[in-house]
Amino acid sequence: MDFIDEDIENYAWEHTESDGDLLQALTEETHANLELPQMLTGRIEGRFLKLLARLVGARRILEIGTFSGYSALSMAEGLPEDGELITCDVDPVTCAVARRYFEQSPHGKKITLMEGAALDSIAQLSGAFDMAFIDADKTNYGNYYDAILPLMRPGGLIAVDNVLWSGRVLAPEDESDHAIAAFNEKVKNDDAVEAVMLTVRDGIFCIRKK
Ligand SMILES: C[S@@+](CC[C@H](N)C(=O)[O-])C[C@H]1O[C@@H](n2cnc3c(N)ncnc32)[C@H](O)[C@@H]1O
Repeated sequence: MDFIDEDIENYAWEHTESDGDLLQALTEETHANLELPQMLTGRIEGRFLKLLARLVGARRILEIGTFSGYSALSMAEGLPEDGELITCDVDPVTCAVARRYFEQSPHGKKITLMEGAALDSIAQLSGAFDMAFIDADKTNYGNYYDAILPLMRPGGLIAVDNVLWSGRVLAPEDESDHAIAAFNEKVKNDDAVEAVMLTVRDGIFCIRKK
């Protein structure tokens, strides 16, 4: 399901700041060489994540789901020079691509890539984080939330991607559909947070820890 008319989406894209040559090269390489290139967040969501990082004054960010590194580099741009972004992914093929682009970016020195199952990586971390971005295997969304929320500072922001899941949350069928629908209910009923679900791209939950 496309939520936004294509012409409107293009208009919004054209009126969003450029993501620059390096991220455009990363996007092209991802589409040319990697499976499921549509997983890459892209210009509107990437610039939005960078803006969120700036708005919360983030100094430490945790990302679950690096893929080829687009969203990590986007958020790293929103960090100060001494800021830190830890990003987790289990796929060595896409991690290798991400590392190569981190090395080429002036913001790459802020990024640490933890390769392996994200729940194991999170268990090795201590807080506090100012911002987190969850964008990995959908069946673990609830587990990622439970593991990350205690690591967030009060006022910290968790952004969660694909919470509309192309509309399948309305009539869940498979395991991922049910996991995202259950995750959305969990957040809605959690008194520890304030949450707004945005219809940007495939749905972004913006969750602020009280
Ligand atoms: C939607 S993609 C992330 C896209 C990325 N944020 C971007 O903007 O390009 C999801 C990623 O989650 C990773 N992933 C899936 N299961 C995982 C797990 N258990 N632990 C860590 N990463 C996992 C996949 O390897 C994949 O690269």
